[in-house]
Amino acid sequence: MEVIIAQADVIGELVADEIAGLLTRAPTAVLGLATGSSPLLIYRSLIERHRRGELSFARARAFTLDEYVGLPDGHPCSYRRVIDDEFVSHVDFAPGAVCAPDGAAADPVVAGDAYDRALVASGGVDLQILGIGAVGHIAFNEPGSSFASRTRVKTLTDQTRRDNARFFGGDVDAVPRHCLTQGLGTIMEARRIFVVAIGAGKAEAVSHLVEGSVSARWPATILQHHPHVTVLVDDAAASRLHLVDYYRDVRAHRYLVS
Ligand code: F6R
Repeated sequence: MEVIIAQADVIGELVADEIAGLLTRAPTAVLGLATGSSPLLIYRSLIERHRRGELSFARARAFTLDEYVGLPDGHPCSYRRVIDDEFVSHVDFAPGAVCAPDGAAADPVVAGDAYDRALVASGGVDLQILGIGAVGHIAFNEPGSSFASRTRVKTLTDQTRRDNARFFGGDVDAVPRHCLTQGLGTIMEARRIFVVAIGAGKAEAVSHLVEGSVSARWPATILQHHPHVTVLVDDAAASRLHLVDYYRDVRAHRYLVS
């Protein structure tokens, strides 16, 4: 696990560089997209590169991580709508190339199974962007999630509903209790993973992710078992890490494979 401590805007550029590099090498790559505030600087940088004519998503595909259950199609807080508004509608993905779990389906359990199968059938995610919740979730895999889980319905913790109330005008009661989320087992199949965490509110979760014991109490810790994860944090999110000097040292003296 590589740890990069940098300012938020630098983090956005670094991950955007990785995505641009991947799409240059492999224009039909499959991207894994997170919603929420953490990836916004990445998306802004990608949109800029697209506007400058440097980057095209025309042959790429993408899968989002999760969705609230029960919000009607097109609800402004639905993650499908958010990813469209913040990123997808500003670049040139082909129609239908970006898939999201259908939280408005008549049967979300069936929709979750179908989504997981579609993801696997696509060949799998080449590059996954993740945020991390204060409770240690990745996607909406709340504490106690099985490390083998696939896309399914989960119940959100009160903490996550409080954290996300800011997207619902501050009204925690408006935040759905249930979600459809890729499982930890699903996410672990991504070939390359970037986790972004900004701000002191993420410091405890980041300390468990990077330096803690692997435990379902902090679901993101399963990423310690993934062979190719980079965690990008600002100073505040890194504030509870013990080995900060070492992580900075590793970055300063990177071993470059020829
Ligand atoms: C969003 C998602 C969540 C968020 C996490 C952090 O698709 O899967 O795990 O990444 O809750 O959210 P922000 O970035 O808003 O702090």
